[in-house]
Amino acid sequence: MKVAYVNGRYVPHTGAVVHIEDRGFQFADAVYEVWAVLDGRLSDAEGHFTRLARSLGELSITPPRSRSALLAILREVVRRNAVKNGIVYLQITRGTAPRDHAFPHADTPPTVVVTAKSLDLAYLEASAAKGVAVVTRPDTRWGRCDIKTVGLLPNVLAKQSAKEAGAYEAWLVDKEGRVTEGASTNAWIVDAGGRLRTRDTAANILRGITRGELITLANELQMPVDERPFTVDEAKGAREAFLTAASAFLTPVVKIDEASIGDGRPGPVTLRLRALYLDHARRNAI
Ligand code: PDD
Repeated sequence: MKVAYVNGRYVPHTGAVVHIEDRGFQFADAVYEVWAVLDGRLSDAEGHFTRLARSLGELSITPPRSRSALLAILREVVRRNAVKNGIVYLQITRGTAPRDHAFPHADTPPTVVVTAKSLDLAYLEASAAKGVAVVTRPDTRWGRCDIKTVGLLPNVLAKQSAKEAGAYEAWLVDKEGRVTEGASTNAWIVDAGGRLRTRDTAANILRGITRGELITLANELQMPVDERPFTVDEAKGAREAFLTAASAFLTPVVKIDEASIGDGRPGPVTLRLRALYLDHARRNAI
């Protein structure tokens, strides 16, 4: 039976509910994190906890549990759902209170929800071996995409539009024609000069944990990463392209809109980095 954690209880997933006045439901007044689970363990755990603390801080939501208490809950949800490979999801909202835009009383307890699901690693591997298609869409999001809030409507609409176009992801494009990131992933290219490029974190993007880990790994390999914007045209003319996220690791991109990237197959730099990242993620999972 699938099990969720809701405010201190492990409950059947089918009947797991929060109140209609929950501020996550009313206002998207909530943050979340997603950890990849590899061999039953959480990968890049510290990075996600650190970003969670930052997201909560930016919204003045008091952390409802210590990091170690949260880790124990995440592990227990993974265990109870027998997830070997997959993801574990945590959402913390500002809690339940009569609807009013301003914050509720400071002693309102945040809502804490954790779920976990298995992913088919063989399917992900097959998809990575072929590479995926992305489409470009205007970035219509708010100005604080560095906070991992559940206010994801523009991301949802972009992802649905990509799906309808037969693509895996939508790459979002700012008013200057430069890619910011994907609807739920960070965007990367190996540019025409052979340099690894991804958008800088001064831009309005999520500071992806997978992105950060990969920058560290690439630097260790003497493969400098240029944290610098690239245009849609530069991406279409790139040697290679890929995306990163906890739910996708590092996935090759072989098509952007109608343009094939490189020879239309995952490139050597991308495949090398994917293997490297997965090895690193497995070794460091807790
Ligand atoms: N998405 N950019 C956006 C907008 C995201 O939502 C995500 C993650 C990323 C990648 O971040 P990370 O490497 O820390 O997972 C980038 C998660 C997986 C999700 O919404 O399911």
